[in-house]
Amino acid sequence: MNPAEPSSNFRPGLNGVIATETHLSHVDGQNGNLVIAGYEADNLARHASFEEAAYLLWTGKRPTKEANISFRQSWKETTRSSWTTWSKIEPFIETFQGNIMESIRVYIASLQARDTLKPNKEQWIQDALSITSAFSVGTAAAWRKGQKQTPIPPDPNMDHVSNFLYMLQGEYPTPKAVDALKRYLLTVLDHGLNASTFTARVIAGTRSDLVSTALGAFGALKGPLHGGAPGPVLEMIQEIGTKDRAEPYLRNLLESGNRIMGFGHRIYRVRDPRADILAEAAETFYESENTSSDFYELAMHVERTALQLLAETKPDRSIKTNVEFYTALLLNGIGIPSQLFTPLFAVGRVVGWLAHVMEQLEDPRIIRPDSRYIGPFHGSWLKDSKEKR
Ligand code: ACO
Repeated sequence: MNPAEPSSNFRPGLNGVIATETHLSHVDGQNGNLVIAGYEADNLARHASFEEAAYLLWTGKRPTKEANISFRQSWKETTRSSWTTWSKIEPFIETFQGNIMESIRVYIASLQARDTLKPNKEQWIQDALSITSAFSVGTAAAWRKGQKQTPIPPDPNMDHVSNFLYMLQGEYPTPKAVDALKRYLLTVLDHGLNASTFTARVIAGTRSDLVSTALGAFGALKGPLHGGAPGPVLEMIQEIGTKDRAEPYLRNLLESGNRIMGFGHRIYRVRDPRADILAEAAETFYESENTSSDFYELAMHVERTALQLLAETKPDRSIKTNVEFYTALLLNGIGIPSQLFTPLFAVGRVVGWLAHVMEQLEDPRIIRPDSRYIGPFHGSWLKDSKEKR
């Protein structure tokens, strides 16, 4: 084929390309449904614990009562080891002067990796536990370090989600805060072949190591078009400040060619179902905790205005609220600083990344799409050099 000819196979951004089969999650963009390992995401987020959901994704089945007890026990022991590893790297983290993403990246990079990935499930689950608990310990400890507060070791009697809040805030969390955060983490646990999961699978395809897959995925997640959106969502609502400023502010944003953070999705053409799960959790939380309802109402007004303006200015697109909008609301309500929104996304999503890595190992092929060359053909280097002399 002439390289200048457009290829019918070329799909910019791999849009619509099915690059893998998975048992882990089903994202139905037309109907706004999300199924995680066979369970409706909403149902899982309400009723399963974080540990049970991780077990489900990593083994493909619900834990029995006995399996649940022993899995939780190993989880707690692994969290203790993650704290020990953190303590060793803590003096070095000081150099990052409170840059939370850098600090977590460096801590995760310091975890011990095996030479190559092998499809050995038992060993893999232990390594996956180490990385998962490290994201939680690292996020809480690095944040406190950056705030010039003493990092707090995990409480050996607490579950994963409560422990995170305890290590971050230094006090025992309320059951409502734990439930709200657990719902958030389970809502973002896995989501098809999103950018960070794809990154993890590409790295796994080369048979690199588990730590590298999580680290690569974390790097992809950081971008503002992926997991970096909820911080800017909160800033946007705060900057808008009052209901009457919403319309001119958002109109100006669109007219100057900017995107409204927390809206739009590659797959969903209807409202992101995760936004619904988190909207309900946020509403319940704000009501029950008597947290500022003014802020919640302002956010609702911003959402309605943004949807109206997006329908008006991009009528041929179906741009709806995505998960990040309500992530910002819910996490802000729980008292999580906005700089931690992206790391917290990773605290949940790491479970999905690692499950995808294991699944990828069942495929012996490396992931290697083609590209189409659209640059010039100059002929010989030698000829060009002579002409120039
Ligand atoms: N605000 C304004 N315009 C938008 C928005 C938005 N939030 N989202 C898409 N558009 C417009 C684009 O400007 C583009 O317009 P054009 O065709 O006139 O140039 C059109 O819609 C299509 O944009 P694409 O980037 O091709 O759409 P895609 O489906 O690939 O993008 C994405 C999805 C990246 C999420 C986009 O909607 C976006 O940037 N949203 C804002 C950032 C955000 O909220 N990210 C979090 C996503 S959820 C997650 O990753 C967990």
